[in-house]
Amino acid sequence: MRAVLLTGLLALSLVACGQKVPPAPTPEQALLLTPADARLASLYETSCKACHATPDTGAPLVHDRAAWDLRWKQGEAVLLDHTIQGFKAMPASGQCAACTPSDFQGLIRFMAGREDPA
Ligand code: HEC
Repeated sequence: MRAVLLTGLLALSLVACGQKVPPAPTPEQALLLTPADARLASLYETSCKACHATPDTGAPLVHDRAAWDLRWKQGEAVLLDHTIQGFKAMPASGQCAACTPSDFQGLIRFMAGREDPA
């Protein structure tokens, strides 16, 4: 009986660990993050990064899951729309004239910490 209980508890804690939100990057780590894809990396360096890798700009920090999770819940279509149209202090197209909608989608996934489709 005790063994069953312990096994159950272990399984529960493993599940809880799997869902744990990873910690936000430090400002130094945030500056080093870049998309794996070369095209996205160059677009990111010349646009989104200026705000999204700098704390205090009001922009959700790259890979900061706590900052992104609520926004992510709106759905990718809304996030894409907010990126193209602009949203509060976020400028339309994120100051990236060369970005296509699919680039924006890749950049949003990268910044929100969802580049690996789970
Ligand atoms: C000039 C600064 C700036 C740049 C450049 C910028 N952003 Fe933002 N972004 C912001 C700010 C500030 C917010 C937070 C707006 C708010 O919720 O008040 C934001 C929020 C967002 C959001 C969340 C919108 C929502 O619905 O919650 C997305 C998605 C986003 N940015 C994508 C991008 C992408 C992609 C790029 C590059 C192509 C980019 N941003 C470039 C400042 C910037």
